[in-house]
Amino acid sequence: MTARIIDGKTFAEGLRGRIAGHVQRLKIDHGLTPGLAVVIVGHDPGSEIYVNQKARQTVEVGMHSEKYELPEDTSEAEVLALVQRLNDDPAVHGILVQLPLPGQIDASKVIATISSDKDVDCFTPASVGKLQIGLPGPVSCTPLGCLMLLRDTLGDMTGLHAVVIGRSNLVGKPMAQLLLRENCTVTMAHSRTRDLPAIVRQADIVIAAVGRPQMVKGDWIKPGATVIDVGINRIPAPERGEGKTRLLGDVDFAEAAAVAGAITPVPGGVGPMTIVCLLANTITTASLINGLVPPGDLTP
Ligand code: GUN
Repeated sequence: MTARIIDGKTFAEGLRGRIAGHVQRLKIDHGLTPGLAVVIVGHDPGSEIYVNQKARQTVEVGMHSEKYELPEDTSEAEVLALVQRLNDDPAVHGILVQLPLPGQIDASKVIATISSDKDVDCFTPASVGKLQIGLPGPVSCTPLGCLMLLRDTLGDMTGLHAVVIGRSNLVGKPMAQLLLRENCTVTMAHSRTRDLPAIVRQADIVIAAVGRPQMVKGDWIKPGATVIDVGINRIPAPERGEGKTRLLGDVDFAEAAAVAGAITPVPGGVGPMTIVCLLANTITTASLINGLVPPGDLTP
């Protein structure tokens, strides 16, 4: 193995410490306690774990945390009314409605109701527009985490060729925007791209966000390239015991690590960064709502 392992877990811990420092300063200098409200409807086990982690980490960095756990049969009108109430609540600077929502609720309607000033997921059309044209505001959490790891690994990325595999609204598209801002040459590849391995072989930076376990092979990687694996694929692992699973990325780690210059592992790479970036976005929105300049280390 030649690649340096990009340790997202350690980086995320350090970032959490810096965020706690920003929270203290906002409290002392401005009497402002950033607040994050998370909303979950129903009992999807994966979502419950995520929401609990989000609420716990919010408290750990000294922020105000509100958690709304609504029953599976909650009506769309009730969720919209809650979001509206949170929009109007001055103690809340970030609103996160955990997806997926039960079938009776139109997620796009709920997202459109979240005030873009409090949209810490960067899901609303207004937030996406701000990100696109470079106005201050929240940034999609996973791409923001990837960007922070890339800056820490590479420093200036001017002129590098970044290939983003995957064109989702959640990761691929905002990631490409952020890399453009870093002066990268950006190629967006996806399931219909012809000769994907040849395209990826041109990349100085590879962002794999396709959701297919170990799709990116070692011989797709240019020697010395930086590889960021966004994939979180849960695979049955009977060798670990009955019903057990393990996580695999979108990159064949063993193969790629023999060629790349630096690479994120799964788990322990991009994953730990995402929740911390949610906290970073809450500092950003709390600052902007109160007419303050957001801390420069938490936003692009
Ligand atoms: N469900 C899975 N990932 C996410 C996320 O990043 N934000 C929200 N709101 N729901 C999710």
